[in-house]
Amino acid sequence: MKSIIIYASKSGNTKKIADQMAAQLGCEAIKITDSPTQTDLEAYDLVFAGTGLYAGTPNEDMVKYLNSLSMKSPKQFALFITWGGAPRSDKMALGKLRAILEGKGQKVLEEHFAAFGGWKGILMKRGHPKPEEITAAGEWAKNLVAKLEKS
Ligand SMILES: Cc1cc2nc3c(=O)[nH]c(=O)nc-3n(C[C@H](O)[C@H](O)[C@H](O)COP(=O)(O)O)c2cc1C
Repeated sequence: MKSIIIYASKSGNTKKIADQMAAQLGCEAIKITDSPTQTDLEAYDLVFAGTGLYAGTPNEDMVKYLNSLSMKSPKQFALFITWGGAPRSDKMALGKLRAILEGKGQKVLEEHFAAFGGWKGILMKRGHPKPEEITAAGEWAKNLVAKLEKS
């Protein structure tokens, strides 16, 4: 199963998670930006897509990128987020990503990974993601791939 990680990250919180997953899986982690030339996902079976949350929405670069995708074959997507724990914003943002991808005929897996991510100057969740959350992200990705490869 060929996997890739794509992520958008403003402060680096989601990048820490993405890099750990990539290290565990031995695959690339690509940062999605507002640049018009972006990674082609055609060669992959499983795409891990991650983002921080902003006012209950995913990073706008990720939204723009996913909206711009046109893929010939359906892939499996596994979503991950870092967030401040604001009630319901996780469900809102994950729902938005899912709707975009399913609207394009892509399969989004039921399970996702979430870790807290603090923001400089704001007390909420300062110091997150903690080392154990980062480690857990890598384990989650590895176990998910193993499970999919068995099924
Ligand atoms: C302007 C702003 C808006 C945010 N909105 C939310 C939100 O709606 N829900 C939440 O749980 N966290 C929110 N956060 C916290 C971020 O999602 C969190 O710090 C995340 O880890 C940032 O990830 P990144 O640095 O990889 O982009 C917000 C942070 C900022 C600065």
